[in-house]
Amino acid sequence: MSKIFLAPSLLASDFSRLADQIAQAEEGGADWLHLDVMDGHFVPNISFGPLVVRAARKCTKLPLDTHLMIENPDEYLEAFRDAGSDHIIVHQEACTHLHRTISRIKELGAKAGVAINPATSASTLNDVLPDVDLILIMSVNPGFGGQKFIRGSLKKLREVSSMIKESGKEIFLEVDGGIDPVTAPQVVEAGANVLVAGTAVFSTQGIKQAITKLRQSYKTKQKNL
Ligand code: DX5
Ligand code: ZN
Repeated sequence: MSKIFLAPSLLASDFSRLADQIAQAEEGGADWLHLDVMDGHFVPNISFGPLVVRAARKCTKLPLDTHLMIENPDEYLEAFRDAGSDHIIVHQEACTHLHRTISRIKELGAKAGVAINPATSASTLNDVLPDVDLILIMSVNPGFGGQKFIRGSLKKLREVSSMIKESGKEIFLEVDGGIDPVTAPQVVEAGANVLVAGTAVFSTQGIKQAITKLRQSYKTKQKNL
């Protein structure tokens, strides 16, 4: 998988102009849209639920990458799939029966992803790796946009990247938190092939220019891979 996918996170967008912000991201060259669902329990913040995912679905054909930062995700998988999510990502830390949850997401016809927090070891993914379509490495503690990238995530990305290579499967390796033109080349070099970026895309003068700037930042690293 040599292509690098860029997934702008709507969390940093202007929700009073959601359709326009999505259109700009799409025109600007976004590959996926990342939707951060927060419940005020698993993370200390509340964002939005299936209604907003459904609204985003009406505005774009881009894959919707739904990141569930919620407790009891099993109870809501169907609602998020019905709302139009193409990928459903659950947290390893929130799932007692992770294998069952992954199977359920796949049964619903979505791509199944598993996210791990900065304090969770890559080895916790060993036994589910063959069953997932995507692994998400959190490079900040989940809950808020605009936080500083945690450098220890680079080592974890390298580790998971080799686990994926060893598995021989095509699994997306996504990174989320603090991605900007400085950290983007570093995570690409460490093996990430899906980059989530909120602040670096939406809290700028121009969404299109910000996406172009991000892509430019890791271009040389891609050649060296
Ligand atoms: C954090 C979310 C991220 C967030 C990233 O809990 O999972 O997707 O939107 O925001 P930035 O890119 O600003 O760190
Ligand atoms: Zn996210």
